[in-house]
Order: sequence, then structure tokens, then C-alpha cells
Amino acid sequence: MDIARTPSTPEGNPEMADAAESPHEPAVIRRSDYKPFAWRVPEVSLDFALGLEETHVTAVLAVERNPQADASPTIHLDGDGLEPLTVKIDGEVATSWSMEGNDLIVSLPGDAHQIEVTTKINPSANTALMGLFASGGMLCTQCEAEGFRRITFFPDRPDVLSVYRVRMSGPKAQFPVLLSNGNLEAEGDGEDGTHWAQWHDPWPKPSYLFALVAGDLIANSDIFNTVSGREVALNIWVREGDEGRTGHAMESLKKSMRWDEETFGREYDLDLFNIVAVSDFNMGAMENKGLNVFNTKYVLADEDTATDVDFDGVEGVIAHEYFHNWSGNRVTCRDWFQLSLKEGFTVLRDQLFSQDMGSAPVKRIEDVRVLRGAQFPEDSGPLAHPIRPDSFREISNFYTATIYNKGAEVIRMIRTMAGEEAFRKGTDLYFDRHDGEAATCEDFVKAMEDGAGLDLTQFRLWYSQAGTPKVSVRLTHEGDTATLHLSQEVPPTPGQSDKQPMPIPIKLALFDRDSGEHRGEQLITLDKAQVSLSFDGFAKPPILSVNRGFSAPIVVHRDISSDELVFLAARDDDPFARYEALQDLVVGHLKDAVDGSLDDAARKDARQAITSAIAAVLADDTLDDSMRGELLVLPSESYLAETMLVADPGRIHAERQSLRAAIGSALEPEFTAVYQRASQVPYSLSAEARGARKVKTQALVYLAAGNPDLAATMAAAQYDSANNMTDRQGAMMVLCGLEGIERTNKLIDFYNRYKGNALVIDKWFALQAGSMHPAALAHVKALADHPDFTMKNPNRVRSLFMAMAYNPQAFHAEDGEGYRMIGDFILALDPINPQTAARFVPQLGKWRRIEPGRSALMREQLERIAAAPGLSRDTHEQVSRSLG
Ligand code: PHE
Ligand code: ZN
Repeated sequence: MDIARTPSTPEGNPEMADAAESPHEPAVIRRSDYKPFAWRVPEVSLDFALGLEETHVTAVLAVERNPQADASPTIHLDGDGLEPLTVKIDGEVATSWSMEGNDLIVSLPGDAHQIEVTTKINPSANTALMGLFASGGMLCTQCEAEGFRRITFFPDRPDVLSVYRVRMSGPKAQFPVLLSNGNLEAEGDGEDGTHWAQWHDPWPKPSYLFALVAGDLIANSDIFNTVSGREVALNIWVREGDEGRTGHAMESLKKSMRWDEETFGREYDLDLFNIVAVSDFNMGAMENKGLNVFNTKYVLADEDTATDVDFDGVEGVIAHEYFHNWSGNRVTCRDWFQLSLKEGFTVLRDQLFSQDMGSAPVKRIEDVRVLRGAQFPEDSGPLAHPIRPDSFREISNFYTATIYNKGAEVIRMIRTMAGEEAFRKGTDLYFDRHDGEAATCEDFVKAMEDGAGLDLTQFRLWYSQAGTPKVSVRLTHEGDTATLHLSQEVPPTPGQSDKQPMPIPIKLALFDRDSGEHRGEQLITLDKAQVSLSFDGFAKPPILSVNRGFSAPIVVHRDISSDELVFLAARDDDPFARYEALQDLVVGHLKDAVDGSLDDAARKDARQAITSAIAAVLADDTLDDSMRGELLVLPSESYLAETMLVADPGRIHAERQSLRAAIGSALEPEFTAVYQRASQVPYSLSAEARGARKVKTQALVYLAAGNPDLAATMAAAQYDSANNMTDRQGAMMVLCGLEGIERTNKLIDFYNRYKGNALVIDKWFALQAGSMHPAALAHVKALADHPDFTMKNPNRVRSLFMAMAYNPQAFHAEDGEGYRMIGDFILALDPINPQTAARFVPQLGKWRRIEPGRSALMREQLERIAAAPGLSRDTHEQVSRSLG
């Protein structure tokens, strides 16, 4: 049982927690228990004798007592699966040490010592991909959050900052390239075909930012001149043969560096910036100081193998990791409860960057869609946690959409309230004040108050309270006064039954019914449970446009007619609000349809209204195609489920599909015309051409729902004539959902064409696992036995099983087969890669909000996993929280 999340238990009562936990339960770590470390480690020297099966590590730590902490006669060094081969203190072999579980405890009599520890590790056996691991013949590290302790014994916590010197040696033929953080100090050849390199990073950093790479790599190299005139050498290291697909990453990097100088005043601080692409990686990428390590998915892109979405992914992740150099590395986190300090802020920074590089409104809509699809369900389920959590058992489980995406929204609200200029003053002060420190979320908020001139006293609730606030909006009208009635409610979440009202910045505009114009946008703050605001001079009731630009991460319940939504969908000058009106129109109808509360006439009327709104979007020549494409996207099944107290995934899927078919049939000529127009636009990465590709596939999806035979022919033709992956994948996506020979033929062609290109073969798996085909589950089962499938590669695992788990029709198969398959899969992956295995648990954790039949089947799987012996801490925590 997770005491910290039991509502009846007072927060931060360690005695109760201890009494309730069995000795085998992993310990709960609490934010309130934070204590500074007893020792400082100003300098670290690491020596690696590299080998794929056997690497020897000698770590020399200069330690001194921390005057800001309670004195201790011992130093506690974290370890994970290590054995100390030798321990020396001040150069002498020591015996005054002991093991405490995985950790090494060394007695230290004086105020300053040198500790030397040697360890031996087997990178090839490291399938968890944390610490030092082998990937395709190269060696590479991943240390965030607690991977450094799998390399050597160390105070593996982000508030211990050290200057690192790293020496490594190994066979030159096998590892011609030797990289670590900072600058290369010296290199040379050793005996028997070995060579060595010595790196020095002048910036003190926590162990989670350490990195080492050794392998046979080649670089795409370039130069960046910083604003103050320093020259930075840039290298993107990849396996031979991949260098032709690194151009977009390099352009993205240079743009990011310039943008951070211009927008946040942040300049790069080393002479060298290295990026390495690896194919086995649990996450997207990692911001190690001066040596970012990337999943190949976020480095490699060209038109034949990457879609427009992939190109954006590369640009966004390159920017994100680069921006961490300031928000994360120069100012790091005091403890892992502060994770959103670096991640929320850095996500906001990469979002703003991407807004500036492309279409700001479209980027905003995409970001909101991600928030609603991934974070809202988290916030309303058993895994809900504040952006600054109070407790955890396994920190890897807290790299969540809440920490990242809601964290970004919270800082975005500060920016909205402050205005851009004052916000910049706040961030300048934050970087200035905390440079070189391990800071807290509170430090950030305080710097914002002092620098931007805001009072954020009540706003701090956004850091401590979980759950998505629900805001109800009603407009009344009397005489020529319109009155806006706003109320808020923050729902209870695990461990937090009573919530206080939050300050919610809401942008709104009131449209005059006759002129169709509004009198200017206003920003109001709803900071009480209920507020009423009056607006004079409206002879008729105005039409309300609310939460414009998605100014706050909330759910809005508005009392609004479908006519008014149609008006806003066609006329609102705020692109997000326009998108939102159309979404609300569809969500409102689908909720009624799923409820069964619609008679035929009402269904016909609603579909008619939606169809004309979509027709207007197709015809509106003030829209660019990229925005048009956004407006055409129907709300996702997961978002629809989210708007219902208890969801029936089968009915949601059926109603949504049927609506799509109705629109597709009704507007077949219009969609066909758009399709033909967009098909004329030649391939390029221009916004116009990208927009055309987007609406083209959208049109095909609608046509496929309404007229599958026609769409199959069109999709097959699109596949054959495609000169880029966006068109090819779009065609495949449609074909994969349809029955027939074209599906089979094109799948075979696609596979043969891209055999050997791992990232594209990932798409081949994902297209089938995520398809609308009724036999998708059977396809997944067969694909799990395909020779190209492996449990050892996280990208491949995600391309098959994540795609299936997020394919509502397949995952929620009525007989529970989808749940069973995910259950089996989690149990099989857990011993290999617990971090990635645990990421599949939240889908099953949605059981509480699903109709009773499926709910019981989902729960059954969670119970089966919970009962399995030897479960990892990662999966154990997620399963027990999900069962609640
Ligand atoms: N810190 C990385 C990022 O967001 C994510 C990450 C976390 C990567 C843990 C690896 C392990 O940029
Ligand atoms: Zn990050």
C-alpha cells in the first residue's frame, strides 16, 4: 500500500508509513525529508578501461565536510549492483568501509579526504540501459536520474556538484572515438592497439549529467559563433551511413543556440558541443553537459525516411536538450522532487522556440492536444501528482506529462500574467541568482516574483495541488449589461481530498452578435471559488470566447448553444478559440450520442451543424492549410473518454467513426477537391507544402471512413507516387485500416524498401499495431514473433506495444485480449528493462473510469502483475498506485 497516497493518512507522517510497510516494499522517499549531504565532492577523477563485456572504473573523489550540513563520521555512497574491488582512503588501502544494501559506507575521520574506489561492470549485460551500456557495438551512458550509481559508488543526488576529469582507454579499432563532457585535454596511443583520451569539464555538475561515449562514429561538424564572438565547434556523431540524415538536426541546433541568445539572453559556455545518436535508448534524449545523447529518432531525418512530424520532433528535442544547458545544467535541481524546475521550464522554452520557428497558433494547438491526451488523464486518474510531487518510490516513474507538460503550462501562466518583458526580467534574475546552484521550484517562483514584479503567493498552489481545475462559465444578460459567472472546482486526487481555489488567468473576449466583432481581449484572474463580472453596453447578449490561447490548463464547462459554437468556429479571431469551438461542438454531440440520449432527429441536426462547420473550414481561404489541418482533426478517443465520468471505449469508437463517415460521405466532393489541390503542391519543407500534405492525409482519412473503396484506390495511388515519407506513411495509415489486397501489397513493399533502416521499420510495426483494422490484435501477436522484433530495443518495443496500447479499438477489445497482451508484455519486459516496462502500466490504470465489464478485466491484469514475484521497483510502484 502506498501510504503517501492514501487520503486518510496525514501527509509526511513517517512513523505511520514505516509501520504500514512490509520490509519488502521499496521505501517511500519524501520531499519533506530533504537534508543537505554531509560532504562536498568538489572534484572527481574517473578512469575507464573500456570493454564491451568488462569495463573497469576507478573513481577518485576529493571530499570535504559540508559546513551547511550535519556532520557525519561516515560518507554514504550510492551503488546499484556494484561490488567495490578496492577502496583506498588518502592513497592507502582501507578496511574501514561496509556495505549497506547496495551502498558503500566509508568511515572518514577528518574534514577532507580522498577516496578511491574501483569497480567492474559488464555493459553488454545492461539491458536496462541505465548506467554504462552497449548499443550496436558502441559504449554509452545514461545517468539521469540514478544511473551513475550503476557505474561507480557516489553520492548520486543532484545537489552534489563536482568538477569532472575523465580518462578512458580502449581498443582503438573498436572505439576510435572517445567522448566525455567538457573539453578534450589530451589524447594518445597506448600499447597493443589501444588509445586513450582525457576530458575535463570546468563546470561543476551533478552526477546525473555525466556522460561517456566510445564507438566507431563519424561526425557532421559545423561551427557556431556566439553573440559575444566565441567560436563553438559542433559535432553530431552517428554511425557511418547515417551522416546524410543529420542536416536537419544541425540546422535545428544552430537555430536553437541563436534563439536562446536572443530570447532568453543565454549563451553557450564551452568551446565544444557534441551530440551522439544511439539506437537503444529509453527516452528521447539526454542533456549531459556538452555531450547530449540522443535517441536516433530525434537526430536522423530526411524526406525519404522521416515525416513532417518527425522533422518537428527532431527540431523540438534538439532545442529542448540544448536549452537544458541553462535550465537544468547551469541551474540544476536540489532534489528530484524539483524535476519540473528544469523540465517544465525547458518544455516551455522549446515550445516557445517552435512557435517562433513555424506557425505559433498551430504549435499551440498541438501542445494543448498533447496536454489533453496525455496529462489530463494522468491528472484525473490514480497516478495524479502535483508538478512538484511530495513522495515517490522510483523517480523514473515521475518523468510524466504532469512534470513536463503541465509544468510548462504553469510557467506559461506566469508569463501570461507578467507579460513577455517582465517575464524575461524574472528569468534573468533566476539564472543570475542561482547560477551554479541546485535550486528548487520555490527559488524559481521567488525569482519570478522579484524579477517580474508579481505576487505569486496563491499561485504556488499550482505547484502543490494535483488535478485539473474545472471552470464553469455562464453568461447572463439584462438591460444592456452582460454578466459573466465563473466558478472553479479542483477535483480530489490521491492523497489530496480537499483543494483550495487556484488563481486561474483566463483570456476572454465578448463578441457583439450583430457586428460579429469584439471589443478587445481581456485577461482576468479567477482566484476564488466563484466570481461574477459585469460588462456594459451590450444591447443583445454577446457571444463569449473564453480561455483564448488556452491561457490556463483547465477544463471549461460553458453554457453555450451550438449556434454560438458554430459562430466562434467560423469567426473567432483567436485561432485556438476557433479550434476549441469546433472541438466543443463535436465533443458535445459525441457525448450525447454515446449516452444514447439522442433521437434520430437530434442526431441528424447535430451532424448537420458539424458538417457545415467542417465545410466552412474547407472553404475558408483565409486559413492556411496547416491551420485547416488542425481544425479538421476530430477530438481523440482518449480525450473524449476523459470528458466522461465513466467511458465506454467501444461506443466512443463506434460513434466517432460513424460521425467521421457521415462527414466524409456528405463532403465527398469537397474533400476530393481539397485532396486534388493539395496533391499538386510539390515536395518541400516550406510551411505551405507541409500544410498541403497535412490536409491531404486528413481528407483521405475522412474519405476512407465514408467510402473505403474509393479511399483504398486513392491511398494506393498516393503510396505509389509518393516521393516523401509523409505521403507514404499517410497512405499506409489509411490502407492499414482497410481490408484488401492493396494493404498486403503495400506492407510488403514498404518492408522491402526500408529493410535495415530501424527507424522506418519501427513505423512499419507501428502502422499495423495502431491501425483501425479489426484484426489489429492478431496482427500484433504475429508481429511479436517477427524476426525484426526484439524486447531489447525500446523504440521497437514502443512501435509495436505502445502503438497497440494507445490504439483504443485494439487495446479495449471487449473480451479483454488487449489488456491480457499488455499484461503479458509488461511481465516479460520488466526483468529486461523495468523503466520502459513501467511506462505501459498507466493504460491499465485507467480501469476506474471505464465501463464495468472492461474495468474488471483491466483490474484483473493489474492484480496479476502485482502478484508476480521479483517485480522491479518501477513496475511495482506503478501497479500498486494504479490499484489504489
Ligand atoms: N532529461 C531528459 C530530458 O527531458 C529526459 C531523460 C530522463 C532522459 C531520464 C533519460 C533519462 O530532456
Ligand atoms: Zn528535459
